[in-house]
Amino acid sequence: MRETRLDLDDFVMPLFVGPEPLANADLPGLARHSLETLGAEADELVGLGVKAVILFGIPDEKDEEGSGAWDEDGIAQQALRELQGRDLVLITDVCLCEYTSHGHCGVIGEGDEVDNDATLELLTRTARSHVEAGAHVVAPSDMMDGRVGAIREELPDTPIIAYSAKYASAFYGPFREAAESAPAFGDRRGYQMDPANVREALRECEQDVSEGADVLMIKPALPYLDVIRAARERFDLPLAAYNVSGEYAMVKAAAAKGFLDERQAALESLTAIKRAGADFVISYWTKELASWL
Ligand code: PBG
Repeated sequence: MRETRLDLDDFVMPLFVGPEPLANADLPGLARHSLETLGAEADELVGLGVKAVILFGIPDEKDEEGSGAWDEDGIAQQALRELQGRDLVLITDVCLCEYTSHGHCGVIGEGDEVDNDATLELLTRTARSHVEAGAHVVAPSDMMDGRVGAIREELPDTPIIAYSAKYASAFYGPFREAAESAPAFGDRRGYQMDPANVREALRECEQDVSEGADVLMIKPALPYLDVIRAARERFDLPLAAYNVSGEYAMVKAAAAKGFLDERQAALESLTAIKRAGADFVISYWTKELASWL
């Protein structure tokens, strides 16, 4: 009678890579690997049956433009070369926020505002450098207008997972700690979406479909199950959901206090995300899920 099942094939494990390994005992999914430890982690994931990872690079040095993002010897590019030759789909997050000194997802123009159009060129360069280093799929998460079209024009054959409806959410907190990407001033509400809007999310999806996205994504997942459902009903493209760092951290913290059972709460959450209509889910539980299923 069960309508929804969890299958490891439908989960993507995030991987953080930086100059130094950094264990995160409270949130193991958000630990940081170094170029030296990354291969062993990938082998372990493949051994567990994990099929795909999404890679985030944390550079040694940041600058105004985020030039580390498209450097052919940048951290993500080196990591991609390290990860080649395994039975693992390599997705990269395409964004500037981990690489800019101010932590915004684009370059800053007049009046401390992100300059949308100047950013497109840099994102396109970044996506190309990822593909040249061995990425199979790119996932632009910056929320600039027109970025899917710009990347599609540059890379006609590369699958694009569009972070179509990415909300300006408090649930990215632990990620920003792990990726050192909290904005130094202001916030991301100028380019990320208002949590109060669902019709706007559908317009964003529509836009990404017309620009050539292969997959639409809703992020975060649990507070936006209605958005996932609405996108599922409206569009035929594969639909992804990002079960973000704050969603994972809440359950971990409550479990550590003995308030709830982590495994049950995680399985229930992930089942709910799939039931709402996501075809696949990016989740920090992916590695643990492999042993639970
Ligand atoms: C931006 C990016 C963010 C996340 C994924 N890509 C953070 C942000 O927009 O601040 C968040 C993921 C999470 O919280 O798990 N490159």
